Amino acid sequence: MNPTENSKKSAGYAAAGYVQSGMVVGLGTGSTVKYALEMIAKRIKNEGLDILGIPTSEATAGLAMKLGIPLSTLDEHPVLDMAIDGADEVDPGFNLIKGGGGAHTREKIVATASKRFIVVVDKGKVVGKLGDFGIPIEVLPFGAGLVKRKIEGLGGTVKQRNNTSDNGNMLMDARMEIRNPAELEDLLNSIPGVIENGIFAHRRPEVVIVGDGAGVVVIEREDGK
Ligand code: 5RP
Repeated sequence: MNPTENSKKSAGYAAAGYVQSGMVVGLGTGSTVKYALEMIAKRIKNEGLDILGIPTSEATAGLAMKLGIPLSTLDEHPVLDMAIDGADEVDPGFNLIKGGGGAHTREKIVATASKRFIVVVDKGKVVGKLGDFGIPIEVLPFGAGLVKRKIEGLGGTVKQRNNTSDNGNMLMDARMEIRNPAELEDLLNSIPGVIENGIFAHRRPEVVIVGDGAGVVVIEREDGK
């Protein structure tokens, strides 16, 4: 296993250790969270861990079902004990870029509905300033032209992805300087046609688990509950 994969695995496995019986747990999307799901499934089998998962994507729902993790819905459980998810970038203020997999709308809903938000990343995702990855944006196809023009008007560039989101919408990646993540998160979401963007500045994680080779570094937000 290459070093990055090892880091993802150790971060994902460590996050699974935070899960306790009786919890409703948001299950994020991506190649790091996959390892958290693997370990949660092992704990269900070996320890009788009793949880319900709320998946943030069709891919995660499929994987969880394959692994034997019982699932529920946000309608049945509007408040979650915790969400575990990956990220594309994490800055020193715990602001995130998410949506590399195009699942950021459901991920932001689930994280916001959760009492505790735990993010798992390999150390390559830890950055001094957000922006190099770009900003994933889910867009209603009807408004695509307007959204593109408005972002260009803000000094950004926009590239449309070939695939759509699980919600059937268009996915775009914007490139622009992120001076103030919370302000830009709000500004992008104020453009009619934008369903959600991948800046997580209002719902930041309480805990970030960084995989570094075979070990992890756990960083807790001081003002986090
Ligand atoms: C999907 C996401 C993922 O959590 C993010 O892209 C990180 O994925 P990976 O762990 O595969 O690098 O936001 O929408």
